[in-house]
Amino acid sequence: MDRLPAIRARGITKSFGDVVALDHIDLDVPQGRIHGLAGPNGAGKTTLLGLLLGLAVADSGRLEILGTPVERALATPGGVAGFVDGPGLYPSLTARQNLAALAALRGHGARTAAIDEALEEVGLTDVADDRTRGFSLGMRQRLGLAAALLSRPRLLVLDEPSNGLDPAGKQHVHGVLNRLAEQGNSIVLSSHRMDDLEALCSEVTIITTGHVVFSGPLGELADRGRALDYRMLTSDPEAARRLAAETAGIRVVDDTGPRPDARALVVHTLVPALDVLVDRLVRAGIALRELAPVVSPLEAAFLALTEPQEAGR
Ligand SMILES: Nc1ncnc2c1ncn2[C@@H]1O[C@H](COP(=O)(O)OP(=O)(O)O)[C@@H](O)[C@H]1O
Ligand SMILES: [Mg+2]
Repeated sequence: MDRLPAIRARGITKSFGDVVALDHIDLDVPQGRIHGLAGPNGAGKTTLLGLLLGLAVADSGRLEILGTPVERALATPGGVAGFVDGPGLYPSLTARQNLAALAALRGHGARTAAIDEALEEVGLTDVADDRTRGFSLGMRQRLGLAAALLSRPRLLVLDEPSNGLDPAGKQHVHGVLNRLAEQGNSIVLSSHRMDDLEALCSEVTIITTGHVVFSGPLGELADRGRALDYRMLTSDPEAARRLAAETAGIRVVDDTGPRPDARALVVHTLVPALDVLVDRLVRAGIALRELAPVVSPLEAAFLALTEPQEAGR
């Protein structure tokens, strides 16, 4: 692969007064990928995405976007579109008028057909002529995405795009993003939840308090052998709790629930010990009705990577 990377960042640092928002961040995003930027609130996600959009400049470090070094001047690098902290909209204008105004502001203008197409892509055709004043967060997010699409970006930067999206909205947005990536464009999107990113990204960079704590394929993150909390519903909660407590490698975390007959047992364990417990339950004639990790392996890995730093603040 000799294609230029969409993003190549090295040692990016950005402070606001005493607060070091980004502390020597490296980021690599090849072209044609959807890259997730994950981290808890205050990790520095918005700050980093703002640098990619040219809304601020780094204090130090090197940033190349689509092969071009980003210089000191504040300016959106060519071929990049997106928004942080929600799109800026005119509340008294309709969705369609907002898109026309934004396109005019950016100096590229937009044909009516292109605007209609963008509205269709994000699923806002039905409200195209409604004022955006009454729009929900999810509708605003989708309109912001439509505005970004009008400039045909080669790199799309989206800050927490899943916030406020209902399932239908999510489907539209995911469809648009996957299509863009298939066409060879690149996307960086942030979220404070791994399950958002899991549906779209093959690679993620996790940052916490301005530091990269993981960067790579999602599979690598989930595969790390890690004990998880599993919630199980059985036909005999009391006997199941006893068996769990007697099984080596298993810690009973909780056995409370709304009703005695529906009490869930939560155990903390690695998979091999869990297998032993399931076998014992079945042999004891106890029916296993539900068994699932309390949080997904990815979310658990994310929390393990980001929580200690959170607590230490
Ligand atoms: N304009 C700003 N002025 C002062 N502090 C800021 C500013 N923007 C961000 N910060 C601080 O930088 C850190 C990272 O913030 P941010 O990038 O918004 O994190 P995230 O988007 O991951 O929640 C936080 O401690 C935040 O308070
Ligand atoms: Mg943010």
